[in-house]
Amino acid sequence: MNYHTPVLLDQVISELQPSIDKVFIDCTVGHGGHTQELLKNLAIVYGIDADKNNLTTATSRLNNPNFHPVLGNFKDIKNIWQKHIGKPVDGILVDLGLSNNQQSSEGGGFSFNDTKSIDMRLDPTIQETSAEEIINTYDETQLYLLFSKVAQEKFARPLAQRIIAARQKKSIKTGVQLANIIRDYYQSKHFRSSVDPATKIFMALRIEVNQEFENLNKFLIDSQDIIKKGGTIAIISFHSGEDRIVKNFIKQNNFKTTRFLPTQTEIKRNKLSRSAVLRVYR
Ligand SMILES: C[S@@+](CC[C@H](N)C(=O)[O-])C[C@H]1O[C@@H](n2cnc3c(N)ncnc32)[C@H](O)[C@@H]1O
Repeated sequence: MNYHTPVLLDQVISELQPSIDKVFIDCTVGHGGHTQELLKNLAIVYGIDADKNNLTTATSRLNNPNFHPVLGNFKDIKNIWQKHIGKPVDGILVDLGLSNNQQSSEGGGFSFNDTKSIDMRLDPTIQETSAEEIINTYDETQLYLLFSKVAQEKFARPLAQRIIAARQKKSIKTGVQLANIIRDYYQSKHFRSSVDPATKIFMALRIEVNQEFENLNKFLIDSQDIIKKGGTIAIISFHSGEDRIVKNFIKQNNFKTTRFLPTQTEIKRNKLSRSAVLRVYR
């Protein structure tokens, strides 16, 4: 199996300083890449993920009695902590976004190449609104605001109009359909883009579907009640809006903080790390 490649791994581990009996929460355990290193240092890790498949993969991969998997959303960190831990923890890690397998899986609807779906819900059993619903029901202003504010897309207005014209002919039901509408617009205007022009719109839809900004804001506040005095919180984000939320929170609270970016060597090895920013605070 191809496991997700953890980003900024060395930096995360040297900041969290795992050792015997220290307790950590990995809020986005994914395939357990970061957690594996925490466990190697004999720490105890509670690993949360909203995606049942990823949590199952991590649990069998890690196969360690010091690992405690929890299916859930990190916005509920306080309830999860109360139920499973109950005493202040030494460190918390959040590695935002998606794992590589989620991004590329057929049927999840996150990928430009998905020919089956444009769903994007991390947990369709409890989340009501999918990206399919958003893209087929939001009016022009709602799409424009999502594309301009969250995606920071230069062509937010014409793309919203194109999407509405396309869906009037045929509902948008797959990643491929949506990506092609965006690509066609870019091509028709001879606009060039170094990454796929659909990238930002797909990311904005995912953020909207999974309420990622709201979840992060709630996490930042609630995590203060469960971390030890002097404990470490490490947050990796891949979107400037998310990073801004973290940066402002740290500033408002005057926390001691350090910021890390991936090295050129890491970016060469794993190009998905290129937009990562790690902020650590105590
Ligand atoms: C970038 S991956 C984490 C990869 C992990 N650090 C590793 O090394 O394998 C992000 C993970 O967070 C999960 N996730 C995203 N938002 C979440 C949320 N609000 N609550 C819980 N899990 C979430 C995703 O399902 C995904 O498995």
